[in-house]
Amino acid sequence: MKIILIGFGTVGQGLVQILRDKRADLKARYGFEPQVVAVVTGRRGSLYSPDGLNLDALLSDFAAYPDQPAVLERGWSAERIIRESHADVLVEASPSNLETGQPALNLCELALQTGKHVVLANKGPVAVAYNDLISFAQKAKRQVLFEGTVMAGTPSIRLAMQALQGCTITSARGILNGTTNYMLTQMESGKPYAEALAEAQALGYAEADPTADVEGWDAAGKARILAQALFGRKFLALDMHVQGISHLTPADIDAAKAAGERWKLIAQVTPQGASVQPRRIPVSHPLAGVSGTTNAVTYTTDLLGDVTLIGAGAGKLQTGFALLSDLLAIHQLG
Ligand code: HSE
Repeated sequence: MKIILIGFGTVGQGLVQILRDKRADLKARYGFEPQVVAVVTGRRGSLYSPDGLNLDALLSDFAAYPDQPAVLERGWSAERIIRESHADVLVEASPSNLETGQPALNLCELALQTGKHVVLANKGPVAVAYNDLISFAQKAKRQVLFEGTVMAGTPSIRLAMQALQGCTITSARGILNGTTNYMLTQMESGKPYAEALAEAQALGYAEADPTADVEGWDAAGKARILAQALFGRKFLALDMHVQGISHLTPADIDAAKAAGERWKLIAQVTPQGASVQPRRIPVSHPLAGVSGTTNAVTYTTDLLGDVTLIGAGAGKLQTGFALLSDLLAIHQLG
């Protein structure tokens, strides 16, 4: 499998690290031998080698990548690489634009048109143009997979769309943003808001512009993705009630604590609508125990009742794994 990787920040590097460290295991257990043939970055240009890039060299210093492989092109545009590389899969891990999905959306469509599967951690194209992506993929007989867009590698999408096939899901509710959950946990132990946010950024959990996290737009994007994947419903962000945590004060946190409650940023999705807002939850409630960057989602179903999934919501290897899980799913299609 020849892979083009767009975006080489926390998530893209996480994937490359996993592919490097698990190379022997992936080959032995799944017969999976991926080659990263191109990496396109936002600010550091691009590298393309039809023979596959050296993953150690990529990870040690992208800017100082040696002139080693027989053919190495530097600085090709993403479009040119997609058109001319004969790769099998485009992995989109560049920053999410939840308003237009661009420039990633155009690249995903070009990849499908030129016969490539598409795997996304980038939430923008999926939140904005879910139906277009799926219908482009169907026409091209290719896959569009996006496990990493909701709850990192914790299989929220696969659970809903595959394991729960045959059930009718009537709602999804939970904690869908790692940064704010981490911040709320830190603030409960007395850390100031700004310090908690700076930590979440330093640890690679926050979006490139963390306003998306703290104002609720990232969780809203995930709610929009779930609404489309689960219910075939497209909600516009502007039609949703979206509130983040930036207005919460230490006094608010203390008042909840004194009442035996905790603040959690809760996303709710039904076929009728979606919302994101901070809520006070009794400490005895299962969601109150979900702390740090851990996320949780409860699917309410007709045949099983409530099914709750708890796991990583953000992070380098956690989201890198989401991409790996989608790549393996494509590999296993044969
Ligand atoms: N900024 C996002 C979060 C990353 O904190 O949840 C994972 O989508």
